[in-house]
Amino acid sequence: MKNKIKKICCIGAGYVGGPTMAVIAKYSPDIQINVVDTNEKRISQWNKKDLTLLPIYEPGLDQIIEKTRGINLHFSSEVNKNIEQADMIFISVNTPTKTKGLGAGQASDLKWVEACARQVASFAKGHTIIVEKSTLPVRTAEVIKNILEGSKSKKSSEEKDIKSFEVLSNPEFLSEGTAIRDLEKPDRVLIGGENTNAIEALSQIYLNWVPKEKILQTNIWSSELAKLTANAFLAQRISSINSIGALCEATGADVREVARAIGTDSRIGAKFLDSGPGFGGSCFKKDILNLVYLSKYFGLPEVAKFWEGVVDLNNWHQKRISELIVKKLFGTISGKKIVILGFAFKANTNDTRESSAIQICKDLIQEGALLYIHDPKVISEQICNDLNASLIKEGESKDKGNYWFRVDDITSSLKDADAVLILTEWDDYSDINWDLASKIMRHPAWVFDARSIVDSKKILASDLNFWRIGDGSII
Ligand code: NAD
Ligand code: UDX
Repeated sequence: MKNKIKKICCIGAGYVGGPTMAVIAKYSPDIQINVVDTNEKRISQWNKKDLTLLPIYEPGLDQIIEKTRGINLHFSSEVNKNIEQADMIFISVNTPTKTKGLGAGQASDLKWVEACARQVASFAKGHTIIVEKSTLPVRTAEVIKNILEGSKSKKSSEEKDIKSFEVLSNPEFLSEGTAIRDLEKPDRVLIGGENTNAIEALSQIYLNWVPKEKILQTNIWSSELAKLTANAFLAQRISSINSIGALCEATGADVREVARAIGTDSRIGAKFLDSGPGFGGSCFKKDILNLVYLSKYFGLPEVAKFWEGVVDLNNWHQKRISELIVKKLFGTISGKKIVILGFAFKANTNDTRESSAIQICKDLIQEGALLYIHDPKVISEQICNDLNASLIKEGESKDKGNYWFRVDDITSSLKDADAVLILTEWDDYSDINWDLASKIMRHPAWVFDARSIVDSKKILASDLNFWRIGDGSII
């Protein structure tokens, strides 16, 4: 076959680059894969012998790394050398929301993507297929192509013949916490492009484990836009159910019952109807804001307003939770001990990007609460950065500005606590002994369950006050 791929270089060893390349390596033993990153610390973590120290926690990832690393999967910070040797290059770098300049607060910052394109333009040799794996604004492939073509026009005519490029869009739909399962059994693989040889070369790799009918081909702009749209639709469902949850609390309805009732309608479907503390994660907010920006840019303010509402509702919802806690605790939480269970934006990941816990905890600290935070996977350094607060120990000086305490043992942390707030649905939180908790907490004590994870009957049978998300049936 023309374009049979032997060497892949993936630029970006993050939550997408690492797991995606690990799965390709598992199913494609004939392909040598180099995952490169300018972040040397991250690369050294990927190369750690002790697999518990990998930079990303994903169930099942360590087993694949164990079998492929050093064989056909390699992690390196030698970006240019690996670009030069590759016949296919995945761009899997971060594309966060711009913080300054034109489109700040909404448009995607493409400086990392542009830097990759320039590096590829300078160092690639022969015919190279560039695959957009990052989530990108529609028509970014055009920018990448321009940079690649521009580099050729600067070379002598002899050199020009040596290089050629094809650009494909191949957005990633994995969810964190289930990344390996999503990659091994994807609902679909989307490939957008114009060149049939390049599409064929990429399809052949996926065909090593993905059934042919699940590989969808579209034009490149549809592929780029489909990724933003998928995330916007998913996030929209969460804002929808969270808005209804607030109405349930006000009216005596129960959002779980409402979700079950509507989810059985096959046109609506049962997934993504769990009311929670608001959506987090690195993708939803930034991708919707990007859609908002693109809509405005293309002269569609009504479309922009529609999607902006999804993010506005999410922000309002997070505030609603912290305000509700203050109200339930007699209007003040100053000096009160609140145990926070879960800081990651969802279970089974150590990622805290855009986690609802960040805004909610910041608000509670602002109100003067003493926060005792537990999370089985998120390290203290990350929580300090996210909250802009210091980690202190019991009895240590509190004159350090904002601070928080780390919880290792949940049961003992509940001693004298005024409230417990569950923000991530880790399994560890589903079997807490609430009878015992009630004996050691300071009364009147509260349990706030923003994830519907605890057994409400057990709590209601104890002396604890109970609130759970979207439940207006608790008196
Ligand atoms: P990440 O921040 O975890 O990883 C990106 C990595 O790229 C970083 O380690 C960074 O150092 C590296 N990098 C940036 N510029 C570089 C350069 N010029 N050369 C070498 N390395 C460079 O990001 P992520 O979560 O893996 O996301 C990557 C892309 O995938 C984003 O566009 C995101 O929207 C998209 N995406 C993410 C998810 C997810 O669940 N995290 C899912 C689907 C799609
Ligand atoms: C999302 C998309 O699902 C994935 O396809 C895309 O590639 C990247 O963005 P991710 O952010 O990893 O994945 O996790 P996801 O499971 O979508 O959850 C996002 C947020 O929504 C989390 O905070 C989660 O707790 C919340 N959520 C999800 C709910 O509150 N209720 C639900 O029913 C589902």
